[in-house]
Amino acid sequence: MNMDVLTSLSKRRGFVFQSSEIYGGTGSCWDYGPLGVELKNNIKRVWWRDFVQARADMVGIDASILMHSTVWKASGHLDHFTDPMVDCRECKHRFRADHVNDLPWTHYCPATKGNRFTIPPGEGCGHCGQRRTLCPECGKGELTAPRQFNLMFKTFMGPVEEEAAVTYLRPETAQAMFVNFDNVLQSMRLKLPFGVAQAGRSFRNEITPGNFIFRTREFEQMEIEYFVNPHDRVEGRPADEYWHDRWIADCMAWFQRYGLRDENLRLREHDKDELAHYAKRTVDIEYKFPIGWSELMGIANRTDFDLKQHAKWSGKSLTYFDEERKEHVVPYVVEPAAGVDRALLAFMADAYREEEVRGEKRVVLRFHPELAPLKVAVLPLLKKRDDIVRVAQTIRADLARRWRVVYDDTAAIGRLYRRQDEIGTPYCVTVDVQTVGDAERGEAGDQKVTIRERDSMEQIRVPVAELEAVFREFLDGAAWEAIARRYPPARS
Ligand code: GAP
Repeated sequence: MNMDVLTSLSKRRGFVFQSSEIYGGTGSCWDYGPLGVELKNNIKRVWWRDFVQARADMVGIDASILMHSTVWKASGHLDHFTDPMVDCRECKHRFRADHVNDLPWTHYCPATKGNRFTIPPGEGCGHCGQRRTLCPECGKGELTAPRQFNLMFKTFMGPVEEEAAVTYLRPETAQAMFVNFDNVLQSMRLKLPFGVAQAGRSFRNEITPGNFIFRTREFEQMEIEYFVNPHDRVEGRPADEYWHDRWIADCMAWFQRYGLRDENLRLREHDKDELAHYAKRTVDIEYKFPIGWSELMGIANRTDFDLKQHAKWSGKSLTYFDEERKEHVVPYVVEPAAGVDRALLAFMADAYREEEVRGEKRVVLRFHPELAPLKVAVLPLLKKRDDIVRVAQTIRADLARRWRVVYDDTAAIGRLYRRQDEIGTPYCVTVDVQTVGDAERGEAGDQKVTIRERDSMEQIRVPVAELEAVFREFLDGAAWEAIARRYPPARS
Protein backbone atom coordinates (compact mmCIF):
# COMPACT_ATOMS: atom_id res chain seq x y z
CA MET A 1 0.00 0.00 0.00
CA ASN A 2 1.36 3.40 -0.85
CA MET A 3 0.55 6.92 0.28
CA ASP A 4 -1.50 7.65 -2.86
CA VAL A 5 -4.00 4.95 -1.90
CA LEU A 6 -4.53 6.54 1.51
CA THR A 7 -4.63 10.06 0.08
CA SER A 8 -7.24 9.06 -2.46
CA LEU A 9 -9.37 7.10 0.04
CA SER A 10 -9.12 10.04 2.42
CA LYS A 11 -10.46 12.45 -0.15
CA ARG A 12 -13.13 10.12 -1.53
CA ARG A 13 -14.55 9.20 1.87
CA GLY A 14 -14.23 12.55 3.67
CA PHE A 15 -11.21 12.00 5.90
CA VAL A 16 -8.72 14.56 4.60
CA PHE A 17 -8.91 17.14 1.82
CA GLN A 18 -6.18 19.33 0.44
CA SER A 19 -6.52 22.77 1.97
CA SER A 20 -7.93 25.45 -0.37
CA GLU A 21 -8.16 22.87 -3.13
CA ILE A 22 -10.40 24.98 -5.37
CA TYR A 23 -7.58 27.54 -5.55
CA GLY A 24 -5.01 24.92 -6.44
CA GLY A 25 -4.23 23.87 -2.87
CA THR A 26 -1.53 25.02 -0.50
CA GLY A 27 0.76 22.01 -0.79
CA SER A 28 1.58 21.76 2.86
CA CYS A 29 -1.77 22.15 4.61
CA TRP A 30 -4.66 19.71 4.82
CA ASP A 31 -8.27 19.96 5.99
CA TYR A 32 -9.95 17.22 7.97
CA GLY A 33 -13.34 16.29 6.56
CA PRO A 34 -16.43 14.90 8.35
CA LEU A 35 -14.86 11.51 9.09
CA GLY A 36 -11.32 12.83 9.57
CA VAL A 37 -12.40 15.21 12.31
CA GLU A 38 -14.13 12.36 14.17
CA LEU A 39 -11.04 10.16 13.89
CA LYS A 40 -8.75 12.95 14.98
CA ASN A 41 -10.96 13.90 17.92
CA ASN A 42 -11.12 10.24 18.98
CA ILE A 43 -7.31 9.98 18.96
CA LYS A 44 -7.00 13.10 21.10
CA ARG A 45 -9.83 11.98 23.38
CA VAL A 46 -8.37 8.55 24.19
CA TRP A 47 -4.89 10.05 24.61
CA TRP A 48 -6.27 12.59 27.09
CA ARG A 49 -8.35 9.97 28.88
CA ASP A 50 -5.49 7.46 29.19
CA PHE A 51 -2.66 9.84 29.99
CA VAL A 52 -4.43 12.62 31.90
CA GLN A 53 -7.81 11.60 33.30
CA ALA A 54 -6.84 8.08 34.30
CA ARG A 55 -3.66 9.09 36.11
CA ALA A 56 -3.38 10.69 39.54
CA ASP A 57 -0.02 12.25 38.62
CA MET A 58 -1.20 14.19 35.54
CA VAL A 59 -3.03 17.44 34.84
CA GLY A 60 -3.71 19.30 31.61
CA ILE A 61 -3.63 22.83 30.23
CA ASP A 62 -4.75 24.57 27.07
CA ALA A 63 -2.45 27.51 26.38
CA SER A 64 -2.52 30.20 23.73
CA ILE A 65 -0.65 29.74 20.48
CA LEU A 66 0.84 33.25 20.59
CA MET A 67 3.25 33.57 23.47
CA HIS A 68 5.59 36.31 24.68
CA SER A 69 8.42 36.52 22.16
CA THR A 70 11.06 36.11 24.89
CA VAL A 71 9.76 32.55 25.38
CA TRP A 72 11.45 31.64 22.10
CA LYS A 73 14.69 33.38 23.00
CA ALA A 74 14.80 31.51 26.32
CA SER A 75 13.85 28.16 24.81
CA GLY A 76 16.59 28.42 22.20
CA HIS A 77 14.18 28.36 19.26
CA LEU A 78 15.21 31.79 18.00
CA ASP A 79 18.86 30.77 17.83
CA HIS A 80 18.72 27.04 17.20
CA PHE A 81 15.42 26.10 15.54
CA THR A 82 16.96 26.44 12.10
CA ASP A 83 17.81 24.42 9.04
CA PRO A 84 20.68 25.42 6.71
CA MET A 85 19.37 26.63 3.33
CA VAL A 86 20.91 27.23 -0.06
CA ASP A 87 19.21 29.00 -2.99
CA CYS A 88 19.75 28.66 -6.72
CA ARG A 89 20.74 32.06 -8.15
CA GLU A 90 19.14 31.10 -11.47
CA CYS A 91 15.82 29.27 -10.84
CA LYS A 92 15.48 30.46 -7.21
CA HIS A 93 14.76 26.91 -6.03
CA ARG A 94 15.55 26.48 -2.33
CA PHE A 95 17.14 23.41 -0.77
CA ARG A 96 18.16 22.21 2.63
CA ALA A 97 21.95 22.42 2.43
CA ASP A 98 22.37 19.08 4.15
CA HIS A 99 20.01 17.41 1.64
CA VAL A 100 21.47 18.75 -1.66
CA ASN A 101 23.82 15.83 -2.19
CA ASP A 102 20.99 13.36 -1.56
CA LEU A 103 19.07 14.63 -4.63
CA PRO A 104 19.29 13.46 -8.24
CA TRP A 105 20.89 16.29 -10.25
CA THR A 106 20.42 17.81 -13.69
CA HIS A 107 23.53 17.97 -15.85
CA TYR A 108 24.18 19.45 -19.32
CA CYS A 109 27.13 17.33 -20.40
CA PRO A 110 29.90 19.10 -22.47
CA ALA A 111 31.17 15.71 -23.71
CA THR A 112 27.84 14.95 -25.41
CA LYS A 113 27.17 18.33 -27.04
CA GLY A 114 25.36 19.57 -23.99
CA ASN A 115 22.82 16.75 -23.67
CA ARG A 116 20.68 16.91 -20.55
CA PHE A 117 20.99 14.02 -18.06
CA THR A 118 19.47 13.33 -14.67
CA ILE A 119 22.20 11.73 -12.56
CA PRO A 120 21.55 9.74 -9.36
CA PRO A 121 22.42 11.36 -6.01
CA GLY A 122 26.12 11.52 -5.21
CA GLU A 123 27.26 10.11 -8.58
CA GLY A 124 29.37 11.77 -11.30
CA CYS A 125 28.55 12.03 -15.02
CA GLY A 126 29.37 8.79 -16.86
CA HIS A 127 30.54 10.77 -19.96
CA CYS A 128 32.56 13.71 -18.70
CA GLY A 129 33.14 12.54 -15.11
CA GLN A 130 31.97 15.90 -13.75
CA ARG A 131 30.36 15.98 -10.32
CA ARG A 132 27.58 18.32 -9.27
CA THR A 133 28.50 21.88 -8.45
CA LEU A 134 25.40 23.71 -9.73
CA CYS A 135 21.71 23.64 -8.83
CA PRO A 136 20.42 20.04 -8.86
CA GLU A 137 17.02 21.21 -10.12
CA CYS A 138 17.84 23.39 -13.17
CA GLY A 139 21.47 22.34 -13.62
CA LYS A 140 22.45 25.92 -14.50
CA GLY A 141 22.49 28.18 -11.47
CA GLU A 142 25.17 28.59 -8.82
CA LEU A 143 24.04 27.84 -5.28
CA THR A 144 24.38 30.50 -2.60
CA ALA A 145 26.42 29.86 0.54
CA PRO A 146 24.34 28.15 3.27
CA ARG A 147 22.25 30.44 5.43
CA GLN A 148 20.39 29.44 8.56
CA PHE A 149 16.63 29.56 8.04
CA ASN A 150 14.47 29.76 11.14
CA LEU A 151 11.45 27.46 10.99
CA MET A 152 9.22 29.64 13.16
CA PHE A 153 6.40 31.63 11.54
CA LYS A 154 6.90 35.28 12.40
CA THR A 155 3.98 37.66 12.85
CA PHE A 156 3.08 40.90 14.60
CA MET A 157 1.00 41.30 17.74
CA GLY A 158 -1.25 44.35 17.52
CA PRO A 159 -1.83 46.83 14.71
CA VAL A 160 1.77 48.03 14.33
CA GLU A 161 4.21 46.07 12.22
CA GLU A 162 7.42 46.94 14.04
CA GLU A 163 10.23 44.98 15.71
CA ALA A 164 8.76 45.47 19.19
CA ALA A 165 5.53 43.78 18.12
CA VAL A 166 7.16 40.69 16.60
CA THR A 167 5.86 37.38 17.85
CA TYR A 168 5.82 33.81 16.58
CA LEU A 169 3.30 31.04 16.07
CA ARG A 170 4.42 28.37 18.52
CA PRO A 171 6.53 25.64 16.91
CA GLU A 172 5.73 23.23 19.76
CA THR A 173 3.15 23.12 22.54
CA ALA A 174 5.80 22.24 25.13
CA GLN A 175 6.92 25.73 26.14
CA ALA A 176 3.54 26.63 27.65
CA MET A 177 3.97 23.83 30.16
CA PHE A 178 7.32 25.27 31.27
CA VAL A 179 6.23 28.89 31.52
CA ASN A 180 3.11 27.80 33.45
CA PHE A 181 5.09 25.46 35.71
CA ASP A 182 4.64 27.56 38.83
CA ASN A 183 0.99 28.41 38.10
CA VAL A 184 0.14 24.72 37.76
CA LEU A 185 2.25 23.68 40.75
CA GLN A 186 0.72 26.27 43.09
CA SER A 187 -2.88 26.06 41.91
CA MET A 188 -3.02 22.27 42.00
CA ARG A 189 -0.69 21.70 45.02
CA LEU A 190 1.20 19.00 43.20
CA LYS A 191 4.01 16.78 44.45
CA LEU A 192 6.82 15.54 42.23
CA PRO A 193 6.73 13.53 40.09
CA PHE A 194 3.84 15.01 38.10
CA GLY A 195 3.09 15.76 34.48
CA VAL A 196 1.33 18.49 32.52
CA ALA A 197 -0.27 17.62 29.20
CA GLN A 198 -1.50 19.68 26.31
CA ALA A 199 -2.89 18.95 22.86
CA GLY A 200 -2.97 21.75 20.32
CA ARG A 201 -1.73 23.31 17.12
CA SER A 202 1.88 23.99 16.30
CA PHE A 203 3.39 25.68 13.26
CA ARG A 204 6.70 25.15 11.49
CA ASN A 205 7.72 26.71 8.22
CA GLU A 206 9.15 23.39 7.04
CA ILE A 207 11.46 23.69 4.02
CA THR A 208 10.36 20.37 2.63
CA PRO A 209 6.84 19.54 3.80
CA GLY A 210 5.17 16.61 2.13
CA ASN A 211 4.11 13.00 2.18
CA PHE A 212 0.46 13.82 2.76
CA ILE A 213 -0.12 14.70 6.43
CA PHE A 214 3.26 13.34 7.57
CA ARG A 215 5.09 16.68 7.47
CA THR A 216 3.02 19.83 7.26
CA ARG A 217 3.47 23.45 8.22
CA GLU A 218 0.44 23.47 10.53
CA PHE A 219 -0.16 20.39 12.65
CA GLU A 220 -1.32 19.25 16.06
CA GLN A 221 0.75 17.87 18.87
CA MET A 222 -0.07 15.95 22.04
CA GLU A 223 2.72 16.66 24.47
CA ILE A 224 3.46 15.83 28.09
CA GLU A 225 6.07 17.42 30.31
CA TYR A 226 6.68 15.03 33.20
CA PHE A 227 8.59 16.70 36.01
CA VAL A 228 10.73 14.62 38.36
CA ASN A 229 13.02 15.36 41.28
CA PRO A 230 16.58 14.82 39.96
CA HIS A 231 17.75 13.88 43.45
CA ASP A 232 15.26 11.03 43.78
CA ARG A 233 16.06 7.46 42.90
CA VAL A 234 13.48 4.93 41.76
CA GLU A 235 14.29 1.23 41.80
CA GLY A 236 17.96 2.11 42.31
CA ARG A 237 18.14 4.47 39.32
CA PRO A 238 18.09 8.28 38.94
CA ALA A 239 14.41 9.29 38.78
CA ASP A 240 14.71 11.00 35.38
CA GLU A 241 16.22 7.92 33.77
CA TYR A 242 13.68 5.60 35.37
CA TRP A 243 10.76 7.75 34.25
CA HIS A 244 12.18 8.18 30.78
CA ASP A 245 12.12 4.42 30.27
CA ARG A 246 8.65 4.15 31.83
CA TRP A 247 7.27 6.72 29.40
CA ILE A 248 8.89 5.03 26.43
CA ALA A 249 7.22 1.75 27.41
CA ASP A 250 3.86 3.40 28.17
CA CYS A 251 3.75 5.27 24.86
CA MET A 252 4.70 2.19 22.88
CA ALA A 253 2.00 0.18 24.68
CA TRP A 254 -0.52 2.93 23.92
CA PHE A 255 0.01 2.74 20.17
CA GLN A 256 -0.17 -1.06 20.31
CA ARG A 257 -3.35 -0.93 22.38
CA TYR A 258 -5.11 1.11 19.69
CA GLY A 259 -4.13 -1.20 16.91
CA LEU A 260 -0.66 -0.50 15.53
CA ARG A 261 0.95 -3.85 14.81
CA ASP A 262 4.18 -4.76 16.60
CA GLU A 263 6.02 -5.41 13.35
CA ASN A 264 5.34 -1.81 12.25
CA LEU A 265 6.73 -0.21 15.41
CA ARG A 266 10.28 0.15 16.68
CA LEU A 267 12.36 2.33 18.97
CA ARG A 268 15.28 4.41 17.76
CA GLU A 269 17.83 5.88 20.13
CA HIS A 270 19.21 9.27 19.03
CA ASP A 271 22.97 9.40 18.55
CA LYS A 272 24.78 11.90 20.74
CA ASP A 273 25.46 14.20 17.76
CA GLU A 274 21.80 14.42 16.71
CA LEU A 275 20.41 15.21 20.17
CA ALA A 276 18.56 18.51 20.41
CA HIS A 277 20.41 21.22 22.32
CA TYR A 278 18.28 20.56 25.42
CA ALA A 279 18.30 16.77 25.51
CA LYS A 280 20.25 14.30 27.63
CA ARG A 281 18.72 11.34 25.80
CA THR A 282 15.97 10.99 23.19
CA VAL A 283 14.24 7.89 21.92
CA ASP A 284 11.87 7.98 18.94
CA ILE A 285 9.01 5.61 18.41
CA GLU A 286 9.20 4.92 14.70
CA TYR A 287 6.42 3.56 12.54
CA LYS A 288 6.75 1.83 9.21
CA PHE A 289 4.82 4.46 7.22
CA PRO A 290 4.16 3.95 3.50
CA ILE A 291 7.28 6.16 3.00
CA GLY A 292 9.39 3.83 5.19
CA TRP A 293 10.43 3.85 8.85
CA SER A 294 9.95 7.38 10.22
CA GLU A 295 9.39 9.17 13.49
CA LEU A 296 5.93 8.82 14.99
CA MET A 297 6.79 10.47 18.30
CA GLY A 298 9.81 11.39 20.38
CA ILE A 299 10.42 10.89 24.10
CA ALA A 300 13.18 13.18 25.35
CA ASN A 301 14.88 13.74 28.66
CA ARG A 302 15.16 17.55 28.58
CA THR A 303 16.82 17.75 32.01
CA ASP A 304 16.32 21.09 33.80
CA PHE A 305 17.24 23.08 30.69
CA ASP A 306 13.85 24.70 30.02
CA LEU A 307 12.93 25.65 33.59
CA LYS A 308 16.39 27.12 34.16
CA GLN A 309 16.26 29.08 30.91
CA HIS A 310 12.82 30.54 31.65
CA ALA A 311 13.87 31.38 35.21
CA LYS A 312 16.92 33.19 33.81
CA TRP A 313 15.04 35.16 31.15
CA SER A 314 11.92 35.96 33.21
CA GLY A 315 13.68 36.59 36.52
CA LYS A 316 11.06 34.34 38.23
CA SER A 317 11.96 31.34 40.31
CA LEU A 318 10.80 28.08 38.73
CA THR A 319 11.69 25.62 41.45
CA TYR A 320 10.04 22.99 43.61
CA PHE A 321 10.45 22.84 47.38
CA ASP A 322 11.55 19.37 48.41
CA GLU A 323 10.02 19.02 51.90
CA GLU A 324 12.11 16.01 52.80
CA ARG A 325 15.46 17.48 51.95
CA LYS A 326 14.37 21.02 52.83
CA GLU A 327 15.76 22.42 49.59
CA HIS A 328 14.59 24.06 46.40
CA VAL A 329 15.24 21.98 43.30
CA VAL A 330 14.81 22.60 39.61
CA PRO A 331 12.93 19.52 38.35
CA TYR A 332 14.13 17.49 35.41
CA VAL A 333 11.57 16.84 32.71
CA VAL A 334 10.76 13.84 30.54
CA GLU A 335 8.83 14.81 27.42
CA PRO A 336 6.68 12.35 25.45
CA ALA A 337 5.82 14.39 22.33
CA ALA A 338 3.47 12.97 19.70
CA GLY A 339 1.98 14.41 16.53
CA VAL A 340 -1.78 13.98 16.17
CA ASP A 341 -1.73 14.03 12.36
CA ARG A 342 1.15 11.59 12.20
CA ALA A 343 -0.62 9.28 14.67
CA LEU A 344 -3.75 9.49 12.52
CA LEU A 345 -1.73 8.60 9.42
CA ALA A 346 -0.22 5.60 11.22
CA PHE A 347 -3.60 4.40 12.50
CA MET A 348 -5.07 4.69 9.01
CA ALA A 349 -2.14 2.98 7.30
CA ASP A 350 -2.17 0.13 9.80
CA ALA A 351 -5.93 -0.32 9.63
CA TYR A 352 -6.02 -0.45 5.83
CA ARG A 353 -6.58 -3.93 4.36
CA GLU A 354 -7.60 -5.23 0.97
CA GLU A 355 -9.34 -8.58 1.29
CA GLU A 356 -11.06 -10.95 -1.05
CA VAL A 357 -14.59 -11.87 -0.07
CA ARG A 358 -16.56 -14.25 -2.26
CA GLY A 359 -14.39 -13.39 -5.24
CA GLU A 360 -14.70 -9.64 -4.73
CA LYS A 361 -12.22 -7.13 -3.35
CA ARG A 362 -13.22 -5.54 -0.09
CA VAL A 363 -11.34 -2.57 1.34
CA VAL A 364 -11.61 -2.36 5.09
CA LEU A 365 -10.20 0.00 7.69
CA ARG A 366 -9.82 -2.17 10.76
CA PHE A 367 -9.83 0.73 13.21
CA HIS A 368 -9.94 0.06 16.92
CA PRO A 369 -13.62 0.72 17.81
CA GLU A 370 -12.63 3.61 20.08
CA LEU A 371 -10.89 5.34 17.18
CA ALA A 372 -13.39 4.53 14.43
CA PRO A 373 -15.05 7.75 13.21
CA LEU A 374 -18.49 6.14 13.21
CA LYS A 375 -19.39 3.45 15.72
CA VAL A 376 -22.61 2.12 14.24
CA ALA A 377 -24.40 2.41 10.89
CA VAL A 378 -28.12 1.70 10.92
CA LEU A 379 -29.33 0.32 7.60
CA PRO A 380 -32.88 -0.45 6.52
CA LEU A 381 -33.11 -3.52 4.31
CA LEU A 382 -35.98 -1.97 2.35
CA LYS A 383 -36.08 1.80 2.14
CA LYS A 384 -39.59 1.83 0.68
CA ARG A 385 -41.14 0.19 3.73
CA ASP A 386 -42.13 3.04 6.04
CA ASP A 387 -42.31 0.78 9.09
CA ILE A 388 -38.73 -0.47 8.53
CA VAL A 389 -37.42 3.05 7.94
CA ARG A 390 -39.24 4.32 11.05
CA VAL A 391 -37.71 1.66 13.30
CA ALA A 392 -34.25 2.21 11.78
CA GLN A 393 -34.46 5.98 12.29
CA THR A 394 -35.59 5.51 15.88
CA ILE A 395 -32.67 3.16 16.57
CA ARG A 396 -30.25 5.68 15.06
CA ALA A 397 -31.63 8.50 17.18
CA ASP A 398 -31.49 6.39 20.36
CA LEU A 399 -27.92 5.21 19.83
CA ALA A 400 -26.78 8.65 18.68
CA ARG A 401 -27.34 10.01 22.17
CA ARG A 402 -24.18 8.10 23.15
CA TRP A 403 -22.16 7.49 20.01
CA ARG A 404 -21.56 8.75 16.47
CA VAL A 405 -24.16 6.76 14.54
CA VAL A 406 -25.41 7.17 10.98
CA TYR A 407 -28.44 6.06 9.00
CA ASP A 408 -27.92 5.11 5.36
CA ASP A 409 -30.43 3.85 2.81
CA THR A 410 -28.77 5.04 -0.37
CA ALA A 411 -27.83 1.64 -1.82
CA ALA A 412 -28.48 -2.08 -1.57
CA ILE A 413 -27.40 -3.73 1.66
CA GLY A 414 -24.24 -5.37 0.26
CA ARG A 415 -22.94 -2.08 -1.01
CA LEU A 416 -23.88 -0.31 2.23
CA TYR A 417 -21.81 -2.84 4.20
CA ARG A 418 -18.82 -2.31 1.88
CA ARG A 419 -19.07 1.46 2.31
CA GLN A 420 -19.02 1.13 6.07
CA ASP A 421 -16.10 -1.34 5.90
CA GLU A 422 -14.13 1.16 3.85
CA ILE A 423 -14.47 3.85 6.51
CA GLY A 424 -13.91 1.46 9.40
CA THR A 425 -17.35 1.41 11.06
CA PRO A 426 -17.11 -1.54 13.47
CA TYR A 427 -20.83 -2.39 13.61
CA CYS A 428 -23.83 -2.25 11.31
CA VAL A 429 -27.41 -2.73 12.43
CA THR A 430 -29.88 -3.94 9.82
CA VAL A 431 -33.62 -3.59 10.21
CA ASP A 432 -35.57 -6.01 8.03
CA VAL A 433 -39.06 -7.43 7.44
CA GLN A 434 -38.64 -9.88 10.29
CA THR A 435 -38.06 -7.00 12.69
CA VAL A 436 -41.34 -5.24 11.96
CA GLY A 437 -43.50 -8.11 10.63
CA ASP A 438 -46.26 -7.60 8.07
CA ALA A 439 -49.36 -5.87 9.43
CA GLU A 440 -51.40 -6.59 6.31
CA ARG A 441 -50.85 -10.29 6.71
CA GLY A 442 -51.33 -10.07 10.45
CA GLU A 443 -47.73 -11.14 11.09
CA ALA A 444 -46.04 -9.59 14.11
CA GLY A 445 -42.38 -8.63 13.97
CA ASP A 446 -39.84 -10.22 16.29
CA GLN A 447 -38.46 -6.75 17.32
CA LYS A 448 -34.97 -8.05 16.64
CA VAL A 449 -32.29 -6.64 14.36
CA THR A 450 -29.09 -7.95 12.83
CA ILE A 451 -25.75 -6.71 14.12
CA ARG A 452 -22.87 -7.28 11.70
CA GLU A 453 -19.27 -7.06 12.83
CA ARG A 454 -16.85 -5.43 10.40
CA ASP A 455 -13.79 -7.69 10.69
CA SER A 456 -15.34 -11.16 10.86
CA MET A 457 -18.47 -10.11 8.96
CA GLU A 458 -20.39 -12.38 11.36
CA GLN A 459 -23.94 -11.48 12.22
CA ILE A 460 -26.13 -11.97 15.25
CA ARG A 461 -29.79 -11.33 15.94
CA VAL A 462 -30.38 -9.01 18.89
CA PRO A 463 -33.62 -7.60 20.41
CA VAL A 464 -33.97 -3.87 19.72
CA ALA A 465 -34.51 -3.31 23.44
CA GLU A 466 -31.05 -4.71 24.19
CA LEU A 467 -29.13 -2.78 21.54
CA GLU A 468 -27.88 0.01 23.73
CA ALA A 469 -26.63 -2.37 26.42
CA VAL A 470 -24.94 -4.57 23.83
CA PHE A 471 -23.18 -1.64 22.18
CA ARG A 472 -22.11 -0.33 25.56
CA GLU A 473 -20.29 -3.65 26.08
CA PHE A 474 -18.82 -3.70 22.58
CA LEU A 475 -17.65 -0.12 22.72
CA ASP A 476 -16.24 -0.60 26.21
CA GLY A 477 -13.91 -3.16 24.67
CA ALA A 478 -15.80 -6.49 24.86
CA ALA A 479 -14.72 -9.01 22.22
CA TRP A 480 -17.22 -9.90 19.51
CA GLU A 481 -17.18 -13.61 20.45
CA ALA A 482 -17.94 -12.86 24.11
CA ILE A 483 -21.21 -11.14 23.23
CA ALA A 484 -22.03 -13.06 20.07
CA ARG A 485 -22.31 -16.35 21.93
CA ARG A 486 -25.32 -14.99 23.85
CA TYR A 487 -27.34 -14.44 20.65
CA PRO A 488 -28.37 -16.58 17.69
CA PRO A 489 -26.45 -16.07 14.45
CA ALA A 490 -28.26 -14.28 11.66
CA ARG A 491 -28.28 -15.32 8.03
CA SER A 492 -25.76 -13.36 5.94
N1 GAP B 1 8.47 19.46 22.08
C1 GAP B 1 9.27 18.52 21.37
C2 GAP B 1 8.91 18.44 19.96
O1 GAP B 1 8.15 19.23 19.44
P1 GAP B 1 9.41 17.12 17.79
O2 GAP B 1 10.06 15.78 17.62
O3 GAP B 1 9.91 18.26 17.01
O4 GAP B 1 9.49 17.40 19.35
C3 GAP B 1 7.09 15.99 18.20
O5 GAP B 1 7.83 16.96 17.52
C4 GAP B 1 6.16 15.30 17.24
O6 GAP B 1 5.36 16.25 16.55
C5 GAP B 1 6.87 14.51 16.14
O7 GAP B 1 7.26 13.23 16.58
C6 GAP B 1 5.79 14.44 15.08
O8 GAP B 1 4.87 13.40 15.38
C7 GAP B 1 5.08 15.77 15.24
N2 GAP B 1 5.58 16.73 14.24
C8 GAP B 1 6.69 17.49 14.30
N3 GAP B 1 6.81 18.26 13.20
C9 GAP B 1 5.76 17.97 12.41
C10 GAP B 1 5.33 18.43 11.12
N4 GAP B 1 5.98 19.37 10.45
N5 GAP B 1 4.19 17.89 10.61
C11 GAP B 1 3.49 16.95 11.28
N6 GAP B 1 3.86 16.49 12.51
C12 GAP B 1 4.97 16.98 13.07
